[in-house]
Amino acid sequence: MSAKPGRLLPLLTTHRTGRSPVTCEYRCGNQCSHPAPNTSDNEYFGDVVRGVMSRRGALRAGGVMAATAAGFAALSGTAAAEVPALAANPGRGNGHGRPGGRPVPGTDFDPVAPNTRDAVTVPDGYEQQVVIRWGDPVVPGAPAFDVNDQTAAAQAKQFGYNNDFVGLIPQDGSGKRNFLVVNHEYTTETEMFPEGTYDEENPTEEQVRIAWAAHGLSVVQADRTRDGGLEVKPSRYNRRITIDTEFEVRGPAAGSDLLKTSADPTGTVVRGTQNNCAGGVTPWGTVLSGEENVHQYFAGAEKVDDPVTAERLQRYGFPEGASTRKWERFDKRWDLGQEPNEANRFGWVVEVDPNDPNAKPIKHTALGRFKHEAANVKIARDGRVVVYSGDDERFDYIYKFVSKGRYKPGRSAHARRHNMALLDEGTLYVATFTGNSPEEEIDGSGTLPSDGEFDGTGEWIALASGNESLVEGFTAEEVYVFTRLAADKVGATKMDRPEDIEPNPVTGRIYAALTNNSDRGAAGKADADEPNPRDGNKNGHVLEWDEDGTETKFRWRLLLVCGDPEAADTYFGGFDKSQVSPISCPDNLAFDGYGNLWVSTDGNELGSNDGLFSVPVTGPNRGQVKQFLTVPVGAETCGPVVRDDIVLVAVQHPGEGGEPGSNWPDGGHARPAIVAVRKSDGGRIGV
Ligand code: FEO
Ligand code: CA
Ligand code: CA
Repeated sequence: MSAKPGRLLPLLTTHRTGRSPVTCEYRCGNQCSHPAPNTSDNEYFGDVVRGVMSRRGALRAGGVMAATAAGFAALSGTAAAEVPALAANPGRGNGHGRPGGRPVPGTDFDPVAPNTRDAVTVPDGYEQQVVIRWGDPVVPGAPAFDVNDQTAAAQAKQFGYNNDFVGLIPQDGSGKRNFLVVNHEYTTETEMFPEGTYDEENPTEEQVRIAWAAHGLSVVQADRTRDGGLEVKPSRYNRRITIDTEFEVRGPAAGSDLLKTSADPTGTVVRGTQNNCAGGVTPWGTVLSGEENVHQYFAGAEKVDDPVTAERLQRYGFPEGASTRKWERFDKRWDLGQEPNEANRFGWVVEVDPNDPNAKPIKHTALGRFKHEAANVKIARDGRVVVYSGDDERFDYIYKFVSKGRYKPGRSAHARRHNMALLDEGTLYVATFTGNSPEEEIDGSGTLPSDGEFDGTGEWIALASGNESLVEGFTAEEVYVFTRLAADKVGATKMDRPEDIEPNPVTGRIYAALTNNSDRGAAGKADADEPNPRDGNKNGHVLEWDEDGTETKFRWRLLLVCGDPEAADTYFGGFDKSQVSPISCPDNLAFDGYGNLWVSTDGNELGSNDGLFSVPVTGPNRGQVKQFLTVPVGAETCGPVVRDDIVLVAVQHPGEGGEPGSNWPDGGHARPAIVAVRKSDGGRIGV
């Protein structure tokens, strides 16, 4: 089914975010229904600068300060002219929009119309295939999936639940043999177990252990087929990582007292990873995966007496009382009253090396601890490795890490070891964004200011470098473990749920998806500002900025202000809004080989199913959003991978919490799965 970019469907409504209440409960512990944990009254930027200047004497130590001081000095009186220019924007304009030119390579397909089908819908001339589903065998000895006979032992060998990030990593130059690496973000026990067999108040121990095994990641060999599809193969590389898999803690907070528990008095070995949302494939062929809403698995924050510990738990949203899944009944590490430091061992970026099935995965403390949506790498011109990551919560922040050492090209075991170690030491920064239009022109309505753009300058504020803290009142370990609090202190810019952040491999610009923020402008909350220009932001926006990676100043602008193109508060890079697909709640980002941005959505507020969209970011068609596919009812589109001749998406939580729900993909019990889309004639995508 394809059509001209379609009009809207009647609003089907659900929860505060456009998701079902079940998804909100199980995916992120209802974080959008609780008060946003960032209640910090972080200072205005000018005050921060003055504070920094006054304490600079105390901080002046070593070469790191020399580098940051240059940034701070610039801040104190920098003219915008000192900030590197952002390349020309053909989208700048009055909002009526450019008509665009001929279809841009990579985006030349007939867009799919918005719909509420219980199916994956792709453009005419394209075909789809399910690559792997929840419960399919991954490692040798895995039994066939039987929804009525689930066991923890079986699940630990099978593909996990609720696939999110997808990495397709070629094993050779041909791209025929690949590693497929997938995150299993969370479990929804009420959907996994047949009706009437799961009691939310009294789960059985086996059901809890099944959930532990259904979290984590899967690594499978996935080879291209003769007809251009993708097929999972038995392989010595195939691997499941679960909540029982040991991780090595590395970087400046490894061994910190803050990470020590009764089960791990060294603070260097953590059992498991959880809520792995989006991620990134590194240039050295590994996967970075973000531990996101980790708070929801813990119980009993009210039992913590120490006020400092309690405040830290509050800033990360750790709940009082019993947890949704009641895991604390079966392992005391989930009970904050008994093991408060266990909380500090989650919320990291983890790295998995699919090239070595025996390699212990890593938790990288140098990248900071927050609700990591993803982590994507750019190699700066000087060879340092830059990792971008968003903290997906209303009013939280955008971060980057810049390595001290330099990248070694290649994918050999030696190069991989070298490059993985680069993430052990560097500088962790948080972003500030300042608009260039008068404050009175940013009124929260989404109306473009008189200069025709939501744009301005940005500054990266260093929080810590190696073992040195750059935030007053924080040790380096505290910066890395309680990064949110350190970022509050330096006046980071409160954003509308920063999700995926991705460098464009063709232009080098960086893109960030800001999914939504229903509380923007609410009483007692931060008002709309130029980087987050709409009050009660339901539909989200996409931000772009220009930097090589290692500098501390940049210029930014909004590429998309999402929603119904007929609504006055939307902006599509200056493109003609009558010629674009409606898009709502941008979440995961990817680029094709032409440098076009691809955006998947989570929680469409416009009454249609979620989907995947292409959008050129340069030239006359910049901002021409086109819908490439929709996912089944209730599902979220995750993990897009866009290659020349294949597109992959993860269909997460099909039918979740809805009535009558979903029967995708097999007509029976709904199963999250990875889908491959290719052109029927075997040709290139969008050409
Ligand atoms: Fe797991 Fe931020 O989405
Ligand atoms: Ca402006
Ligand atoms: Ca996401």
